Amino acid sequence: MTKRFITTPIYYVNDSPHIGHAYTTLAADVLARHYRTKGADTYLLTGTDEHGAKIFHAAENFGSRKSEVGSWNQNEKFKIVQEFTDKISQEFKNAWKLLDIRYDQFIRTTDPKHEKIVGEFLVKVKEAGYIYEGEYEGLYCVGCEEYKKADDLVSGECPIHKKPVEKIKEKVWFFKLSAFGDQIINLIESGALKIFPAERRNEVLSFIKGGLEDIAISRSKVEWGIPLPWDKSQTVYVWVDALLNYYSAPIIAGQEIFPPDIQLIGKDILRFHAVIWPALLLAADLPLPKQLVVHGFFTIDGRKMSKSLGNTIRPAELVDQFGVDGARYLLLSQFPFGGDGDFSLEKLTTAYNARLANDLGNLLQRVLVLINKNKINIQPSPTPLRCAGVDVLLEQFNFDGALAEIFQLASNANVEIDHEKPWKLAQLKTQSGKLKTVLTSLYCQLETIAVSLAPFLPGTSEKILAQLKTLKPEPLFPKKV
Ligand code: MSP
Repeated sequence: MTKRFITTPIYYVNDSPHIGHAYTTLAADVLARHYRTKGADTYLLTGTDEHGAKIFHAAENFGSRKSEVGSWNQNEKFKIVQEFTDKISQEFKNAWKLLDIRYDQFIRTTDPKHEKIVGEFLVKVKEAGYIYEGEYEGLYCVGCEEYKKADDLVSGECPIHKKPVEKIKEKVWFFKLSAFGDQIINLIESGALKIFPAERRNEVLSFIKGGLEDIAISRSKVEWGIPLPWDKSQTVYVWVDALLNYYSAPIIAGQEIFPPDIQLIGKDILRFHAVIWPALLLAADLPLPKQLVVHGFFTIDGRKMSKSLGNTIRPAELVDQFGVDGARYLLLSQFPFGGDGDFSLEKLTTAYNARLANDLGNLLQRVLVLINKNKINIQPSPTPLRCAGVDVLLEQFNFDGALAEIFQLASNANVEIDHEKPWKLAQLKTQSGKLKTVLTSLYCQLETIAVSLAPFLPGTSEKILAQLKTLKPEPLFPKKV
């Protein structure tokens, strides 16, 4: 059976993971779990992006050792930066473990195996005639690790990082991106390379139709990177290095799964994935990914999440407050996946109490208590039915819609209890058949809820199924005040 290959972006190790990173990785985990439950062989790749000036500066500034940097020799510098990337990369692994995210491979771009594959890939592209030497003169934002045009700036600054950009003039190697515009347009328009949602697809198409320029794929003054095999005075541009992780990872793991089936990304990195990435693959005569799935960005209480505003939320904080599955639920349910949305801590507690503690937790308690009290004999189904609507919604990347559908089942079941009043049926001998029917139906509905929740809230799904088996009610989600 062919494997479904799903990827997340690889995260910069300049800072510890926050819930923005968790959002993409969690969505990928839910998709992978969903396909696995359906019996499809699935491979989930994630990892960390560890080269470039941005990471180098973060490592220099770490632990207020900036003043010592000047005295370090090359070897010391690299050792210290590597230690820093090891530490932050491990923090990403810890965060994914905490959130019960199950990946098949975690790639790090400082892995020498990746570095070697990147070099070989670029040699191939150069031999195919798509790489040439030149001089780059222009602007560069280290925060974005991106070449900028004057009209990308607002008041002379990068609008994302609100900082002045660098002016650079250096000898570099260029990639003939301009040669691939028409091919990429055809691939996107024909659906061979799908981009979800449609607005993002249109955005990319109009960008490419505006004309593509060749891009610099090396830097001459960035030491912390992969040296170009044919010109060791240069290192590979960090975005080219990073995008190639999707190609190197399967080779490193000995998996014949390339190209990716689904690549999840945030809207900020769409152009890299929809333009540079396919062009590099076309230049190397390799197959293209099948689909890019792009999500929006979320703000915290109406403000952009950033280190300087001090409103960054770490995955551990959410898990401490709401538990693993509480955090998973809240991250994916608060707004539609494709769009932007606001993540308000106040709304989180309300949503947690209403949906998880009340609708779901109380339902399970009520049904189990009624079954026990009335000594109803019910056997668990060997293969409980999943809610079909949820599968459809998930495969359309409608994570919040799929969750809403499952929680609607719970709220319907609560309405059914209030309507059927099993406690009244229990008082009438003539109604014992009806009582059993009502409670059996509620029991089966809980089974469906549990199995449908499995990709989203794996621990809770197991707990519900276990409690349905033992009929011993235990609180799922303690109410928050
Ligand atoms: N290293 C590059 C990606 C290379 S992929 C070949 C990068 N890293 S990043 O750490 O800055 O961000 C990666 C991703 O994190 C974003 O594309 C997005 O998926 C996610 N998010 C970061 N902040 C976010 C929000 N505030 N909201 C939602 N997602 C966010 O870019």
